[in-house]
Amino acid sequence: MSLAVNSARAISREIFREEMLIPEQRELLIATIDRKRAEHNLAGVEVYSSKMEALTKAVDPEVPAAVLDLPIGQLVLQVLKGKQELTSVQEAQSGRLIRAGIPIASNVRRGEVDGVVVVDAYMPDSLLAKMEGIARQYTEYRQIKALKNPIKAGAYLFVAVITVMILFSATWFGFYVARGITVPIQRLAEATEAIAQGDLNVRIEVKAADEIGTLVESFNRMTADLKGSKSNLEHANVSLRQSNLELDRRRAYTEAVVDTIAAGVLSIDRAGLITTFNPSAERILGVPGEQVRNRPVSDAFKELGLDLFQSTYDRMLADGRDGLSVEGPVEVKGKFLTIGLHGSRMKDEAGRDLGFVLVFEDLTELIKAQKTAAWQEVAQRIAHEIKNPLTPIQLSAQRLRKKFFEKSPDFDGIFDESTQVIVNEVTSLKRMVDEFSKFARMPAPQMARESLDEVIRKVVALYSGAHRDVQFEVNLDETLPPLNLDREQMNRVFVNLFDNAVQAMNHKGRLSVTTKYEPKRHRAVITVADDGMGINPEDQDKLFVPYFSRKRTGTGLGLAIVQRIITDHDGHIRAANNEPKGAVFTFELPV
Ligand SMILES: Nc1ncnc2c1ncn2[C@@H]1O[C@H](COP(=O)(O)OP(=O)(O)O)[C@@H](O)[C@H]1O
Ligand SMILES: [Mg+2]
Repeated sequence: MSLAVNSARAISREIFREEMLIPEQRELLIATIDRKRAEHNLAGVEVYSSKMEALTKAVDPEVPAAVLDLPIGQLVLQVLKGKQELTSVQEAQSGRLIRAGIPIASNVRRGEVDGVVVVDAYMPDSLLAKMEGIARQYTEYRQIKALKNPIKAGAYLFVAVITVMILFSATWFGFYVARGITVPIQRLAEATEAIAQGDLNVRIEVKAADEIGTLVESFNRMTADLKGSKSNLEHANVSLRQSNLELDRRRAYTEAVVDTIAAGVLSIDRAGLITTFNPSAERILGVPGEQVRNRPVSDAFKELGLDLFQSTYDRMLADGRDGLSVEGPVEVKGKFLTIGLHGSRMKDEAGRDLGFVLVFEDLTELIKAQKTAAWQEVAQRIAHEIKNPLTPIQLSAQRLRKKFFEKSPDFDGIFDESTQVIVNEVTSLKRMVDEFSKFARMPAPQMARESLDEVIRKVVALYSGAHRDVQFEVNLDETLPPLNLDREQMNRVFVNLFDNAVQAMNHKGRLSVTTKYEPKRHRAVITVADDGMGINPEDQDKLFVPYFSRKRTGTGLGLAIVQRIITDHDGHIRAANNEPKGAVFTFELPV
C-alpha cells in the first residue's frame, strides 16, 4: 500500500512541478502518466481535475478491465474536499485493488488543490495467497523467534546432561576396565608373594579372555610346572640321598677291605698326590700314614728312600701301560726287605684316568722260606750225589776184599778194575765237594774303590780272544764314577754271565754289555745281553737257585754265585728275555 502511495506522491509532485494540469500540457500529461505507470509497474494511474473530470487514464493491459472499472468517484471527491491523501482497498472478483488518491497542489493558488492522482495497485489472489503465506510464516517465525532462547537453553542443558552422562559412563567404564586389570594383577602379586614363601599350591581364579587372562593362565601353568619340578627335585633328592648312603656303605666296605688286607696299598691320584696308605702299608714300610698322605708322591718316595716304588711309578707314567710287576730290595729302618710290587693304572667306567694304585708285599720271609726249601733240596741232592759214587766204591772195595781172601786167580784184573772205579768215583766226589765248598765258603768281599769299566774290559778281552765267532758290543757310561767293589768277585760275576751267554748262543752270536750311571738314584745299572735261546718262562723263578741247571754237565751254581756276590755288594739282579731273542741279565750296584 505504501508503495502505491509513494508512487502516487511522486507522480503528483511531477505534475505539480511541470504544471501539467494546464490544458496546453495535456499531451505531456498523458505521455507522462503512461510512462510513470510503466515505470512504477502499476495496474493503473488516473488523473482528475478539480472538477472531477478524468484528464487521463493509463492502465496495465494485463489487469482485467473489470477490476479497474470499480467505482472511483467517491475517493476522488473526498480527496478534493479534504485536500488530503486517501487510500482504499476494494475486493474484486479475482484479487484486491488498492487505490491511493493524492491531491495535486495548485500552481496558481497556494494551498488549493487543482486535481487528484489515483494510483491503482492490483494484487491478484495468487499473490495474496503467497503474501498471506509469507505473513503467516513470518508470524510463526516471530513466535519461534520468541522461543529461541528457551530452546537454546534447552539444547545447552541437553548437551550438558549428555556430556555429564558421557563423562560419568567413561569414568565408570575406565574404572571397570582398570578393575579388570588391577584385580588380576593384585592377585598375581599376592600369588607371587605366596610362591616366594614356598606355597606352590596357589592358583588364581580369574576369568578373562584377554592378555591378562593369558598372563594368569601362564602364571597358573608356571606354578603347576614349578610344583611338578619341585616334587621331581624332591624325588631326585631322596634318591640321591639313598644312592649317597649306598655309596657311603660301599666306600666304607671298600675302605674296610683296604684296611684289613694284608698287602700294602698305596694310591696316587691324577695330580700325583698319595691318597691311600693303608695300615698294612704302614706296617710293611714302617711309616705312619699321616707322614705320606696328601703329599706329592715323588717327595714322599724320595724322603723314604723308596727307589723301587719311584722307578715303578716312573715307568708306568712313561710307557702308559696298565700294569707292572716288579720285585726288589727296599731299605726299611736299616734292613733290606724284598718287596713284591704291583702297580696298576686306575680308570673309571668311562675309561678316564684316575691315577695309580700300588699293591705291595714283603716277600723277605717268603724268599727266606723259599731259600730254606731250596737249600734242603740242595742238601738232599748233595747227599744223593755223594751216595751215588759211594755205592760203587763200597761194592768195589767189598769185591776186592772177597777176591783177596779167596786168593782168586784173576785178582790182578779185578784189582785194577776196582781200584780204577774207586779212584774215578772219588775224583768225581772230590770235584763236587770242591765246587760246593767253593760256593759255600765264598769269602767276604774285600771292597775297594775300583773302576767297573776296567773289570768289564778285561773279561771282554779274555772272552773275545777265546771266542772268535762271538761279537762283543761294549757300551760303557764314561760318567760312571769308581764303585765300591771286590774286583775278584766282580770278575767272577762277568765270567759266569759270559759263560752262560756263550753257551746259550752256542758259541756264536752277539753279546752286549752296557753300563749306565743314574746319578739321581745313585745307581749303576749294568746289563749283559745275548741273542741266544733265551729263558724258558718256567725256569724264570729257579735260575738263581743253586744246582738248577738245564745243562748236562752244568753245576747250576753259576747264577747262584752271581746273585750271592751282587747281594754282598748291596745290589740286585734280575733276568728277562731280550728282544727279539736271547736273554738279558740286569743288575744294579750302589754308587
Ligand atoms: N744267557 C742265558 N740264556 C739262556 N739260559 C740261561 C742263560 N744263563 C743261564 N741260563 C739258564 O740258567 C741255568 C742256570 O745257570 P747256571 O746257574 O749258570 O748253571 P749252569 O750254567 O751250570 O747250568 C742254565 O742251565 C740255563 O738253563
Ligand atoms: Mg753257568
